[in-house]
Amino acid sequence: MSATARKTAPMPDDIRAMKGASPIVSLTAYTTPMARMMDDYCDFVLVGDSVGMVLHGLPSTLGVTMEMMILHGQAVARGLQKAMLVIDMPFGSYEQGPAQAFSNAARIMAETGAAAVKLEGGVHMAETIAFLVARGVPVMAHIGLTPQSINTLGGYKVQGRGDQTEALMRDAHAVADAGAFSVVLEKVPASLADRMTAELAIPTIGIGASAGCDGQILVVDDMLGLFTAFKPKFVKRYAALGAVGEAAIAEYAAEVRARSFPGPEHIFADAAPQKAPQK
Ligand code: KIV
Repeated sequence: MSATARKTAPMPDDIRAMKGASPIVSLTAYTTPMARMMDDYCDFVLVGDSVGMVLHGLPSTLGVTMEMMILHGQAVARGLQKAMLVIDMPFGSYEQGPAQAFSNAARIMAETGAAAVKLEGGVHMAETIAFLVARGVPVMAHIGLTPQSINTLGGYKVQGRGDQTEALMRDAHAVADAGAFSVVLEKVPASLADRMTAELAIPTIGIGASAGCDGQILVVDDMLGLFTAFKPKFVKRYAALGAVGEAAIAEYAAEVRARSFPGPEHIFADAAPQKAPQK
């Protein structure tokens, strides 16, 4: 499906049907202007809980709340017409069990208009995924490096190497069998991501995985060079907007101090210019 040819946003089933047909393009967004910028080009847009680190300066995603996800979800929804909206379930909003997950997922969907939610976890989340899907909540799964578990994973390491490989394969099959319509693979060795892509009937969305995945996602502030605190290996910077922005701010500050801004074209005269009389 070509994003530019589309008139309405795809639904989770349309994203699932793209497997094997066309690479799925996605980015994160947290604001209306950013969502507008990517709407023509992305098949789906994720309001990731990365919002906590990228926009709110938190040290990890663990402090992100339901209120933050809903506020940013509503902002992004206002900027999208053609791309599907997916919203992350924040840490602590679904792990207690299926009933907690359903009530928070339903709130996210009702208050933002999102078509689906994303949650982290494999085998141990399968029951919750099946519960949500059976009750009308499409779920995008997220396995491999799951940043909400950094304290138990021991940091932001590549997942699924060596003797972890088969356990991660089981995670992939568990979320697909539970009814997830797609699965994000984060920081998974390329050969394992390719195996998952071949074995699963649902699309794999890679981030630090493999060009062979059914789709790719990046954090938009990373790929635009707006978030520069650190750069994971899997990020390609397509622009350096942070540097462009800083140069513009430095120029503005210099002009204000030199009293050369505002110029005559930016200020107002005492009286508004008279309109010519209508004939
Ligand atoms: O929160 C996020 O931005 C994500 C993507 C990295 C997939 O989960």
